[in-house]
Amino acid sequence: MSIDAASLFHHPDRNLALELVRATEAAAIRAVPWIGKGDKNAADKAAVDAMRAFLSTVDMDGVIVIGEGEKDEAPMLFNGEQVGSGSGPACDIAVDPIDGTSLTAAGRSHALSVLAVSERGTMLDASSVFYMDKIVTGPEGIGVIDIERPIGDNVRALAKALGKDVGDLRIAVLDRPRHEQLIADIRAAGAGTRLLLDGDVAGGINAARRDTRIDMCVGIGGSPEGITTACAIKALGGFMQGKLAPKDEAEAERGRAAGLDVDAILGLDDLVAGDNTFFVATGVTDGALCLGAKREGPIIRTESVVLRSKSGTLRRVQAEHLVEKWLDPADR
Ligand code: FBP
Repeated sequence: MSIDAASLFHHPDRNLALELVRATEAAAIRAVPWIGKGDKNAADKAAVDAMRAFLSTVDMDGVIVIGEGEKDEAPMLFNGEQVGSGSGPACDIAVDPIDGTSLTAAGRSHALSVLAVSERGTMLDASSVFYMDKIVTGPEGIGVIDIERPIGDNVRALAKALGKDVGDLRIAVLDRPRHEQLIADIRAAGAGTRLLLDGDVAGGINAARRDTRIDMCVGIGGSPEGITTACAIKALGGFMQGKLAPKDEAEAERGRAAGLDVDAILGLDDLVAGDNTFFVATGVTDGALCLGAKREGPIIRTESVVLRSKSGTLRRVQAEHLVEKWLDPADR
């Protein structure tokens, strides 16, 4: 079999994901001194700075499509920022140096450092509308779940597809006042809930994986997190739909002006087109997806997952990092 060197150069190839994991590892490591210290901005800044520094070493011509906001609100990896060495494949990038900044500051579980990459022009730029309604399941939800249907119908349909009793289903939902009715309807259908304090990227991924207790993740969370999740769900072969959820008419209008259809049901291919997505996450604090970054004497241990849609692979990367190489003396 001959290898097309030109196409390897122009499209993200398999090695990219293993390069990218260094950036989420770096973000998680630098957040360690801030875990449980009550200062979410300091934790986020440490993670952002580390991720930016490591992204600059990766051989790609990247543009941040889903970042943390506009350029003038530094420090952040902002939408439109160029990242990577500038040579190599042209990529769209979604970053969330810490999904779960409040969890990190409180010392709670389930905070992740997250990065997703796809070919240039394939990620939906949903940055003009802050929230997105989402529904995520494993592959069994394909052709079975519909975001427009009442949640009770979706829960019963998924139970049937999974061959489970409805009472055995666990549905992850962000614990927010806006979800009061959704939570009541899930319970009225007979299923149980897993209420998330924060972090619906991990919630969505866990819904799509077999070896977790979560069967579905549903409800309104951040649009950036929706696109990032979509990159992972593609690699996991799962099901996902989204629908933008503007807060008011003015935000809906901003979305339309940016070319978004705020009423459309967005399937996986609308959220991220093509079949060459990468998703990388490193645990900041312990969660079902990854163990958190942990200091053990002179070492910080990290655990990461690396997903690639083209091959449908999930790799787990465990690493040990010397504290003296990573943390300022004041932070050790
Ligand atoms: P950050 O850690 O980046 O603040 O995001 C946490 C998060 O819980 C996301 O996982 C979720 O999509 C979003 O916030 C929900 O927003 P809100 O807290 O406004 O309901």
